[in-house]
Amino acid sequence: MSRQPRSWLFVPADSEKKIAKALDSDADALVFDLEDSVALDRKAAARDILKALPARSGGAQWWVRINPLRTDEHRLDLELLGKADIHGIMLPKAESGADITELAHRTGSIPIHAIVTETAASLFGLLSYRDVKASPLAAMSWGAEDLSAALGAASNKDSAGRYTPPYVLARTLTLAGAAAAGVQPVDGVFADFRDDQGLIDEALDAARDGFTGKLAIHPAQVGPINAAFSPTPEQVAHARAIVEAFAADSSAGVLSVHGRMVDKPHLIQAQRTLARAGE
Ligand code: COA
Ligand code: MG
Repeated sequence: MSRQPRSWLFVPADSEKKIAKALDSDADALVFDLEDSVALDRKAAARDILKALPARSGGAQWWVRINPLRTDEHRLDLELLGKADIHGIMLPKAESGADITELAHRTGSIPIHAIVTETAASLFGLLSYRDVKASPLAAMSWGAEDLSAALGAASNKDSAGRYTPPYVLARTLTLAGAAAAGVQPVDGVFADFRDDQGLIDEALDAARDGFTGKLAIHPAQVGPINAAFSPTPEQVAHARAIVEAFAADSSAGVLSVHGRMVDKPHLIQAQRTLARAGE
């Protein structure tokens, strides 16, 4: 799995049953959770379960969501590194690039996926991830649930099921912040895991806007997410036509492909589509 993961499946790390199920799923990345889905008195047991996992043999990337910076549990979580076959660390409640610098000081070059919109202050720090020196930051995702708790909201969706303005802002700032930092933008969780169509709609909206993956909380969400973030054969064919048209005429700045104007941004987008399709 060298491409950016499309589906990032959370698994509460204190549940051996769910871990077994997750290992059996088609998720591109598994996120063993030591934070919010694990009760305080289960965190030590969860760490022991992760330490005892056999070495990974292909398949999904393995990530661990550790507890937030400057907590006792955070320190204990970091002791796991080197003892479990972990590809990267997910940092919740990140507030700025300074948090990445602080974590990387202890974890070196291990890739970091930061959840960047879970506190009120975090909304003011989204550009700062761009300026981290020698950054191991690989992905940024946004979270609506913790943000609503932080803002005191009764709900983060309106009566039609659409995110209200504070969460649309958080989503947009995450997308722009990740693009500015040159890391993967990952859409947040869709909590209503029995609503298949709602998940598909939200994932397709995210893919349209530029996100290249989405967090999942249930194995049933993995298939629809993988599909939503895989370019369709039509998109791949169109991208190939654009790349080939520019390759055939190296002096052209603007061309016509399938009756539409294409210039540099379209070429960049087409190259990105082909990369995501593995070409
Ligand atoms: N990873 C692996 N297996 C999972 C899973 C997950 N995230 N979510 C559910 N399963 C398993 C269940 O254990 C169950 O297994 P079984 O058939 O052997 O009993 C099966 O999939 C079907 O689950 P279902 O009955 O539909 O859901 P549930 O009521 O057992 O669980 C949740 C619902 C929300 C508690 C569960 O999906 C979950 O723990 N999700 C992850 C939560 C999390 O990590 N949150 C932190 C990030 S926001
Ligand atoms: Mg949380």
